[in-house]
Amino acid sequence: MHSIAIFASGAGSNAAMIIAYFKGHPAVQVALVVCNKPGAGVLNIAREQGIPVLMIDKEAFFRGDAYLPVLQEKQIRFIVLAGFLWKIPPKLVEAFPGRIINIHPALLPRYGGKGMYGHHVHEAVLASGEKESGISIHLVDNQYDHGALVYQARCPVEPGDDADSLAARIHRLEHLHYPRVIEEWIRRQNS
Ligand code: GAR
Repeated sequence: MHSIAIFASGAGSNAAMIIAYFKGHPAVQVALVVCNKPGAGVLNIAREQGIPVLMIDKEAFFRGDAYLPVLQEKQIRFIVLAGFLWKIPPKLVEAFPGRIINIHPALLPRYGGKGMYGHHVHEAVLASGEKESGISIHLVDNQYDHGALVYQARCPVEPGDDADSLAARIHRLEHLHYPRVIEEWIRRQNS
């Protein structure tokens, strides 16, 4: 059984889909939700699903290894970022080489980088007059939104879209693909 930790900062709709997907899974279990934001929606989801939560403090997190003992104690093998808005510090990347995955709500390498999250991404896509957008699932390295791509899916930008309507379309795409892409990624790492 491989234990994964989901890191999330917000509403947690992706976290909810991942938790539901792996419930009763023979090889993968969500063992921990890591959150940096008191009051975030993902905390209710974790509570309802009985998943332990680790609340993290900024200063300790950016020291890099402050939370490693907790992750080790829970035997976390993979880290899944699902709307987690802090950069992963190098020591954590080193401790989980190739074993941290992220989802980004646009077609990287465009519309990524520092400050590019949530609605900021969709607003930039709309402002550029793009005809399509999508999702990028990628490994995490020491640069924002930069590691090797694992999977991308596309959707149209419709005339009359605003950041909300585009975000809703992108969320549907994320919910459809992220859990199964995580499952395949984990399976590949072990074969
Ligand atoms: C998702 O759309 C995810 O792609 C995005 O935050 C949203 C979180 O939604 N992540 C980023 O923008 C990272 N740069 P959720 O809390 O409902 O899962």
